[in-house]
Amino acid sequence: MTERTSHPTADRPFLPAMGKAGLTPFYDLVHRVSGLGRAHAEMIGLADLRTGQRVLDIGCGTGNLLVALGRRRLGVELVGLDPDARALAMAGRKAARAGLTVDWRRGYADELPFPDGSVDRVFSSLMLHHLGKAAKDGMLAEVRRVLRPDGLLVLADFDGHSGARSHNPFARRIAPRAHGSVEVRERIAAAGLEPAPAVPYSLRMGELTIIRANRGS
Ligand SMILES: C[S@@+](CC[C@H](N)C(=O)[O-])C[C@H]1O[C@@H](n2cnc3c(N)ncnc32)[C@H](O)[C@@H]1O
Repeated sequence: MTERTSHPTADRPFLPAMGKAGLTPFYDLVHRVSGLGRAHAEMIGLADLRTGQRVLDIGCGTGNLLVALGRRRLGVELVGLDPDARALAMAGRKAARAGLTVDWRRGYADELPFPDGSVDRVFSSLMLHHLGKAAKDGMLAEVRRVLRPDGLLVLADFDGHSGARSHNPFARRIAPRAHGSVEVRERIAAAGLEPAPAVPYSLRMGELTIIRANRGS
């Protein structure tokens, strides 16, 4: 396995949180209206967190999951990674207001700047559908690489199959890029992780699937 500790060598194209870079400042409004915070709380509850653990949120965007987690004062080390400098700046201001220390990194899911086996918990919320198929598999391989042997991944994404059937126009727009929960689980397993059964979760803007996976031996 390759150990990566440096920042990405080159900027690459990425799909920002709201589809267009100029819309990122409005992301937190959507977050509040959608009730995504409840899904983040569900994800945090699944992560079996303990004091001293190093927790990474891949595609952390404006930092809502990590700030919610930090407010619980569990004594975990928080690391957020996203390619969007503007989202990271918003995340940084939010964490500072909450009195939290977070290591914000600009980077890409399939090129994690962390050594092998250096992370206890990985979160990824509504990020997977921003990636093409190769990058999805690249990300999952990287998650397995950076997780410690007893590490866990907790991932949430739109359930593409529910979205395709939905009458919700937002969900229909997302659906072509999001896979169904069965395929997401298969991809997680193909990366060598051990996924538990997917948990369906309803938001106003569409159906989510939440999957927890052990790193596996
Ligand atoms: C819909 S937002 C979700 C943000 C946050 N996780 C949340 O739940 O509120 C998706 C995020 O994925 C990020 N993203 C897009 N491509 C990425 C990549 N290749 N690697 C890591 N993050 C990426 C975007 O910049 C954006 O912040």
